[in-house]
Amino acid sequence: MPRTKIYAANWKMNNMTTETAAFFAAVGDRCVGVNDREVVVAPAFPYLAQAAVLARGKNIVLAAQNFYPAENGAFTGEVSLAMLADIGVRTVIIGHSERRHIIGETPQQIREKVAFAQKKGFRTIFCIGETLPQRERGELFAVIDHQISTAFDDNLTCPLEGLVIAYEPVWAIGTGINATGSQAQEMHEYIRRFMEQRYGRRDTTILYGGSVKPDNIAELMKMPDIDGVLVGGASLKAGSFMEIVFWDR
Ligand code: PGA
Repeated sequence: MPRTKIYAANWKMNNMTTETAAFFAAVGDRCVGVNDREVVVAPAFPYLAQAAVLARGKNIVLAAQNFYPAENGAFTGEVSLAMLADIGVRTVIIGHSERRHIIGETPQQIREKVAFAQKKGFRTIFCIGETLPQRERGELFAVIDHQISTAFDDNLTCPLEGLVIAYEPVWAIGTGINATGSQAQEMHEYIRRFMEQRYGRRDTTILYGGSVKPDNIAELMKMPDIDGVLVGGASLKAGSFMEIVFWDR
């Protein structure tokens, strides 16, 4: 079975009511009937319910940027998976580098989130990636091995389609410096082999993220092991995001 192609928008802490409405109005019915790729949008929490209504019937999947791995209760400021399911959201991003490096999420917390999302039947977009110093010190593959294995060893119970990996080199996120097609391909091939050898999951969907734009999407998507992209800055407006999603049409 061919791997699903996924084009995911990570709005981070951007886009409010007006921008969310404008985005969905501009996308209109462009994704309706499209079945050779999946389009995902992850708005900030206050706008998820608004987006869920606007995305109805539009063949756009909504994702949350975060959640807290507990059923409910005294967790001030947090959002549960039950709340997300309640508004029709069943996909979550876990392990984004901004949560690892700015918010200080630990590998153990990330592992707990992976376990909890699987237990609740949520699909996970799991992010990994090295910093520039790690790459320069030649620790690239060791960092990736560690990020994957601390999250998944004895902790991978979902079906193949329940897990999507996003390789996002930290030095490429929001910097305008994307990994070249061959740099990304090298890592995607490595991750694919790692997932196969360690977990028997060769056909994991693997996205690239980090300064993806309309003018570099073709180079990236032509690589055999790149199954889609996770886009930040260039996903905020419908125009550039749709150029990325439909780069080959
Ligand atoms: P960027 O962000 O496209 O703005 O580099 C990507 C991401 O962090 O997911």
